[in-house]
Amino acid sequence: MALEARPLLWLALWTLAVPARSFGKDADGGWRRPGPGAPAAVTEEEHCTVERRADLSYAEFVQRYAFSRPVILQGLTDNSRFRDLCTRQRLLASFGDSVVRLSTANTYSYQKVDLPFEKYVEQMLHPQDPISMGNDTLYFFGDNNFTEWASLFRHYSPPPFSLLGTTPAYSFGIAGAGSGVPFHWHGPGFSEVIYGRKRWFLYPPEKTPEFHPNKTTLAWLRDTYPALTPSARPLECTIQAGEVLYFPDRWWHATLNLDTSVFISTFLGTEVVAAASAQPTSAPLSGPGGG
Ligand SMILES: *[C@@H]1O[C@H](CO)[C@@H](O)[C@H](O)[C@H]1NC(C)=O
Ligand SMILES: *[C@@H]1O[C@H](CO)[C@@H](O)[C@H](O)[C@H]1NC(C)=O
Ligand SMILES: *[C@@H]1O[C@H](CO)[C@@H](O)[C@H](O)[C@H]1NC(C)=O
Repeated sequence: MALEARPLLWLALWTLAVPARSFGKDADGGWRRPGPGAPAAVTEEEHCTVERRADLSYAEFVQRYAFSRPVILQGLTDNSRFRDLCTRQRLLASFGDSVVRLSTANTYSYQKVDLPFEKYVEQMLHPQDPISMGNDTLYFFGDNNFTEWASLFRHYSPPPFSLLGTTPAYSFGIAGAGSGVPFHWHGPGFSEVIYGRKRWFLYPPEKTPEFHPNKTTLAWLRDTYPALTPSARPLECTIQAGEVLYFPDRWWHATLNLDTSVFISTFLGTEVVAAASAQPTSAPLSGPGGG
């Protein structure tokens, strides 16, 4: 090879090796680790089919989306301070010894395991094993101790769109590439990615998806998704850091973290809906997860 071609080759290799969004200081918050990456299926969709809105007014949100379809909100809040507090280094320094509650990554989320946050981050936060079952996979999403972590959560600005008669409740989590929660539904809410990317799959309440409750989202994407006819496909989109996805009441959804991701959901709970759903139903997931 001609000598003068080398710098170009190195530039080309470097460009390939550095994902576009990792430019800038602390772009991944220190969460991207050396070692094996995500399984091959962990990629963004070909076409995002959820609308992205940067200029949505509250009136239009209520009219067009709140009760009828998901939407991705951009630039609504500035969570740069919260984001700074969520780097790997700072969370470990502040909360390393605090005990977190992990949940299995299946639809009905049965098993719970408590362990120190540092142990979770150092030992369990690795890419999803493509052959393990969701009910055998533990990860940290929800079940937060808001007393112990108050110094962090008070810096989070939730999406400023509320729904009449609902009370917001946070669910914070951190999970490895390829992890996610399989299809389930609950009340309406928002989910924001702080670091990493999260791919969403959504179906309206009347369109129950085909899935096995103990299989991971990754297994569903690999085994079930490719055979879906266009009309049987879910709405889908990958949410980038700083974006917020809104999902309406009772919409089915499954999630897949494309990178090691830090995320926070704001669930809009209602006493009225809780009372109404006391009638027999097949409602999956005892409490909101959103991982
Ligand atoms: C997980 O679910 C599968 C299939 O539903 C079952 O065969 C297996 O025993 C379950 N594993 C655990 C740890 O419960
Ligand atoms: C939350 O953390 C506080 C302080 O460490 C502790 O006393 C309390 O029992 C925890 N709450 C739960 C529900 O684990
Ligand atoms: C899923 O896993 C849970 C717990 O591991 C088990 O009790 C349940 O029977 C499994 N469900 C199905 C449909 O296999």
